[in-house]
Amino acid sequence: MTQDELKTLVGRAALDYVVAGEIVGVGTGSTVNKFIEALAAMKDRIPGAVSSSVASTERLQALGIRVFDANEVGELAVYIDGADEIDGRGYMVKGGGAALTREKIVAAQSRRFVCIADESKRVDVLGRFPLPVEVIPMATQRIVRQFRALGGTATVRLKDGKPLVTDNGQHILDVTGLAIREPLAFESEVNQWPGVVTVGVFAHQKASVCLLGTASGVQTIAY
Ligand code: 5RP
Repeated sequence: MTQDELKTLVGRAALDYVVAGEIVGVGTGSTVNKFIEALAAMKDRIPGAVSSSVASTERLQALGIRVFDANEVGELAVYIDGADEIDGRGYMVKGGGAALTREKIVAAQSRRFVCIADESKRVDVLGRFPLPVEVIPMATQRIVRQFRALGGTATVRLKDGKPLVTDNGQHILDVTGLAIREPLAFESEVNQWPGVVTVGVFAHQKASVCLLGTASGVQTIAY
């Protein structure tokens, strides 16, 4: 099966976790796009969604799915999102699509996080994928130096030759060279550096369940 087919498989499998009558939290990325396509089939059974990005909002609305502001609604039953990496404990690296801050907000508002990923995302230790960090631009170079002190190399993510600007009007650093063995402590530490909006380690908001797309089908892993 191709990676695209595996994404379709897990995107469809995630429908089983959507609770009829409840607003669903929706992440961002190519795997979530497959979920959004599948969700259209049950749009009449849910009031709508809370979205983690402008891109997902546009896709949801184009399919006739109502999008609520996170402040309009209370706790969500479930949040469905992809990941750039997931380890054996359900800790993840996210933010390859630059939506990490809103993703973490919607995840924090949800009782369960269902991660949908193809098997290429499974790692033993987080850090193989360059770690995304959303930063306030005036703090960029100091944060680059702080990562250097940890052994990491941070570079500003570019789009069309200029720093990419997130949905929140900020920039993204991508950090290579880290092996994140203690994700909870790492996330807590980096998140309190001045100028860091959000680090892309999802340990405090880890997955409850991962639907992993493999050659032999969808593997369901609960943490
Ligand atoms: C976006 C994310 C995505 O969930 C992550 O990048 C995985 O994306 P894809 O499903 O396209 O591989 O964190 O900010």
